Amino acid sequence: MWRFRYVWDNIEAMIRNKTVLLGVTGSIAAYKAVDLASKLVQAGANVDVVMTRCATEFVTPLSFTSITHRPTVTDMFEVPDDFEIEHIALAQRANVVVIAPATANIIARLAAGIADDMLTCAVLATRAPVILAPAMNVNMWENRITQENLTRLRARGFKMVEPVTGPLACGSQGKGRLADVEDILTVISQALRAKTDLAGKRVVVSAGGTQEPIDPVRYVGNRSSGKMGFALAEAARDRAAEVTLITAPTALDDPIGVTVVRVDTTLQMRDAIARAAARADVLIMAAAPADFRPAAVSGSKIKKESTARMDLHLVPNPDIISEVRGNLIKVGFAAESEDLVRNATAKLKKKSLDLIVANNITEAQSGFGTDTNKVTLIDSRGKIEALPLLPKSEVAHKVLDKVVALLSAGPTNQGRNGRRK
Ligand SMILES: Cc1cc2nc3c(=O)[nH]c(=O)nc-3n(C[C@H](O)[C@H](O)[C@H](O)COP(=O)(O)O)c2cc1C
Repeated sequence: MWRFRYVWDNIEAMIRNKTVLLGVTGSIAAYKAVDLASKLVQAGANVDVVMTRCATEFVTPLSFTSITHRPTVTDMFEVPDDFEIEHIALAQRANVVVIAPATANIIARLAAGIADDMLTCAVLATRAPVILAPAMNVNMWENRITQENLTRLRARGFKMVEPVTGPLACGSQGKGRLADVEDILTVISQALRAKTDLAGKRVVVSAGGTQEPIDPVRYVGNRSSGKMGFALAEAARDRAAEVTLITAPTALDDPIGVTVVRVDTTLQMRDAIARAAARADVLIMAAAPADFRPAAVSGSKIKKESTARMDLHLVPNPDIISEVRGNLIKVGFAAESEDLVRNATAKLKKKSLDLIVANNITEAQSGFGTDTNKVTLIDSRGKIEALPLLPKSEVAHKVLDKVVALLSAGPTNQGRNGRRK
């Protein structure tokens, strides 16, 4: 649910006023395309729907027309009132083409370059990105012919939203269910995002609050929800970066298109970050690793009756971001409750960061657990930018705007603390 909220912020920003050509084919999952069309319209898109003849056996064109307030195209030879060569016009005005659900049949026809109906003609004629969200019986999906067709289409730049595993309409179990509408929307927004300014860059993001075990049941933790880190990972992915998200336990689902490494403790996070950062261009430390951990961890549950009082002896954890060396941009976070700029600037210098994102956790709707954040960005050249209260997805893009500028400006901390060579 949280994840969808992030996705929705991105979707709305990316999709507003864009034209989406939604192709619907003859799958039992065709009814889900009505929901997809509805969400696209809610996000402000102009949605042209093209149905194959078989699709009309499953859902009526009227369902789509009622939602999109535009004619639904089902017949290549039906001349519209404002005549233009419709398949070319549809193909040209689309900013993105998405076929959901995509049958084994349309996949095969597209792979072969067949253009025998409005949808296949439009796909051949478009220069927009084309996204396929297949849905079919598991055996049809696993069939080598289908897989070879998909490989061929991928190689030609078609984007896929893979089907998911679960109970199928045919009564069997396996891979073949249409991906969730929110995942399809995510891929659409990715395809629409004009910015690819992090293409070729490897970005490592940490998220969440680590948990330091006391015994097999209890732990020392903190209030970090992971939302800011996840928003950053998704934003970097949308800007074409190769993203690794190293996250402490959170209630959030893995973002699609991101390599996710799940850890529990600060020491585990340190190891995972050291590995990932060795080949990264950017490290964004949005996690809240516990500063201290219990000196000793009990192997069995400490019984309440076994002790009249319990003293917890804590030892300091390493400071992960300070330990990372190499030629990469380092972005840290500072959650402060007073003297925001002064404390954050001191942290930036002490840890040899390129940028620090400071937030006052006492502000309403900002900091832990919220969907919004009010932050001040401070870079190593002393530039301070106070941002208004924004959704975390937008804060993420503001941070990445800075990262892109820092990447193109080159190292700012050259030689400092021996970090850059
Ligand atoms: C009840 C029913 C459900 C079907 N569901 C699917 C499906 O989920 N995926 C698929 O690839 N084909 C499915 N088919 C077969 C397609 O409808 C058939 O291959 C058709 O030729 C697809 O045409 P189109 O790709 O032009 O829409 C189904 C057929 C029936 C009768």
